[in-house]
Amino acid sequence: MLRGSDLEVEPHYTVGRTLFSGEAIGERVKSLAERIASETPAKELLVVGILNGAVFFLSDLVRQMPSELDVKIDFMSISSYGASTKSSGVVRILKDLGSGVEDRHVLIVEDIVDTGLTLSYLLDVMRTRRPAGLRTCVLLDKKEKRRIAVDIDYCGFAVPDEFVVGYGLDCGGKWRHLPDIHVVNF
Ligand code: IMP
Repeated sequence: MLRGSDLEVEPHYTVGRTLFSGEAIGERVKSLAERIASETPAKELLVVGILNGAVFFLSDLVRQMPSELDVKIDFMSISSYGASTKSSGVVRILKDLGSGVEDRHVLIVEDIVDTGLTLSYLLDVMRTRRPAGLRTCVLLDKKEKRRIAVDIDYCGFAVPDEFVVGYGLDCGGKWRHLPDIHVVNF
């Protein structure tokens, strides 16, 4: 699966129907944040966002977490899989974390899980670094496209097998900034 940013946007592509309004997303994010905070068995939580798609989701999510929880944030950036790594899901880490995760409670925040290859690879990488706890939080789950089982601890919404944009998700770099999540009309 190509990342949205790898797609060429043709002039006839348009933003289609709204799947989730900004308001509905906000409510869901609040309840996810409360659950995550209450289920964190430590004082500190390291929230790791996968750039660029998870930026808005992460920033809304952490701002709904209570002050008693010592929330730290960090980001990783990864490349799309090249032709030779499409089936293995091996991606290249373009930007790694600024600090170690050993003995810390880590929450990986991703915009959307499609085949599952990216998240599965990231989980494997993280496990080798021996965190005290490792959980995943994804805004959207495109279950029909799954090629590898991946543990999702917290999920915003299930989505159909359609290409979606907005609230951080893009198509050829476009439409990330939209407050609602829409289907793209190709
Ligand atoms: P996976 O490795 O196939 O699970 O791919 C996950 C990545 O594919 C996400 O982080 C997105 O960058 C990209 N992606 C998959 N589906 C969509 C979509 O509908 N809109 C935008 N990006 C998508």
